[in-house]
Amino acid sequence: MQRLPGPTEKVPGALLLEFRRDPLVTLMRISGQCGGMARFRLGFQRVYLLSKPEYIADALVRHNNDMVKSRGLRMAKNVLGEGLLTSEGDLHDRQRRLVQPAFRHERIASYAAMMPGRARSMTERWRDGEVVDIHKEMMGLTMGIVAKALFGAEVESEAEEVAESLEAFLKNFNRVTNPLASLLERLPLPSNRRFRRGKERLDALIYRVIREGEGKPEGSLLSALVAARGDGTTDLQIRDEMVTLFLAGHETTANALTWGWYLLSQNPRAEARLHEELDSVLDGRLPEPDDVPRLGYTAKVLTESMRLYPPAWVVGRQTLRETEIGGHRIPAKSLLLMSQYVMHHDPKHFPDPERFDPDRWTPEMKASLPRFAYFPFGGGPRACIGESFAWSEGILLMATIARDWRMSLLPGHRVALLPRLTLRPRYGMKMVLGRRPPGPQS
Ligand code: HEM
Repeated sequence: MQRLPGPTEKVPGALLLEFRRDPLVTLMRISGQCGGMARFRLGFQRVYLLSKPEYIADALVRHNNDMVKSRGLRMAKNVLGEGLLTSEGDLHDRQRRLVQPAFRHERIASYAAMMPGRARSMTERWRDGEVVDIHKEMMGLTMGIVAKALFGAEVESEAEEVAESLEAFLKNFNRVTNPLASLLERLPLPSNRRFRRGKERLDALIYRVIREGEGKPEGSLLSALVAARGDGTTDLQIRDEMVTLFLAGHETTANALTWGWYLLSQNPRAEARLHEELDSVLDGRLPEPDDVPRLGYTAKVLTESMRLYPPAWVVGRQTLRETEIGGHRIPAKSLLLMSQYVMHHDPKHFPDPERFDPDRWTPEMKASLPRFAYFPFGGGPRACIGESFAWSEGILLMATIARDWRMSLLPGHRVALLPRLTLRPRYGMKMVLGRRPPGPQS
């Protein structure tokens, strides 16, 4: 058992401040200096940063039962309640079984069938040369899709309201590394009022969707949840599950697409390759779910976008008991951090890591990549339940939109990262829309 390296701190508390200011740079620095496992403190919390694929597999797969979600996600219970993302143990197992059928292959194909049409309705509002915040557009689009797919509801008119509520949640969530968070939560601050108002509005929306969904055809996720009511599932539980799926199911995919559009705008050769693929596979028609396996380059663009800008940039776990990882004894109540952002920028696995290169994703490279060197969807029993949904959605939306449109970054627009619960563009993403010449059949 060797001593673990850790970053040095000149002044007590300096590391916590640095982490709160810029967690991505801080984690990259620590991993660069300390290698596969680093030990340090953030305030009173003992932290281990795992940056070796085997260690991450140990934590997320082998020792899943020795851990719970980190404080960050436990704080998110304020909004998400005891839904799939935040619940633990038997409650989690039961809910995962209940929700799983909604994510079976055939159901995803049926949701996927409506995705291109919804993207098309959005772009019908667009005008050549217009400037839009593409992040806002993607959030509205993916939000409408997840609500329609899983709950059979239309929520488009509430998009603005949901975005505001989310903003209020995320601001409060930022307190996660603040040792005084629980005290702050109880003070009559404007941010707490905004948070409560946001929660009320979101709840009102979700309860409306539940009411609307009660008469919905069998087979929808909502009808399965409603049917489980007598089985120990309460209205509150249904609400928690729906809020979770609604929030987890749109912001991540919207970010993946937003960063994808940005990267394409900066890489004309990749953009031209994407257009070539779309022109040849689609031949002017809208994509369909069956096209997904044929849109290989589109998938590579998304894979590479999520490598450089992983929408979930870190996962955290707290150890319940002493646990051994990579030959090191980790005490109970330690926080384990595993950062997709750090792993995906590791030159050992991704040579020239800052370069956007969709072509690096050859079958040979994928076969030789260690599991958890690339893990945008997490892994183990708590892996993303929506992964296949997200792949179909990302590919079909990118294909539908890029078939007709290209986007260039508005000159002077600042692009910076905002690592909150997901990795957002700090100032949004203002882009100029350009209509592509009509394809062969349209
Ligand atoms: C690009 C898109 C997405 C990314 C990058 C992503 C990423 C992730 C990650 C990393 C986790 C694991 C978190 C942890 O281990 O603590 C997760 C969990 C989860 N995701 Fe996703 N996700 C995406 C899309 C979706 C979609 C479309 C849905 C639903 C429609 C969804 C629903 C969930 C749920 C419910 C969980 C909790 C699963 C459990 O604990 O059993 N996600 N996601």
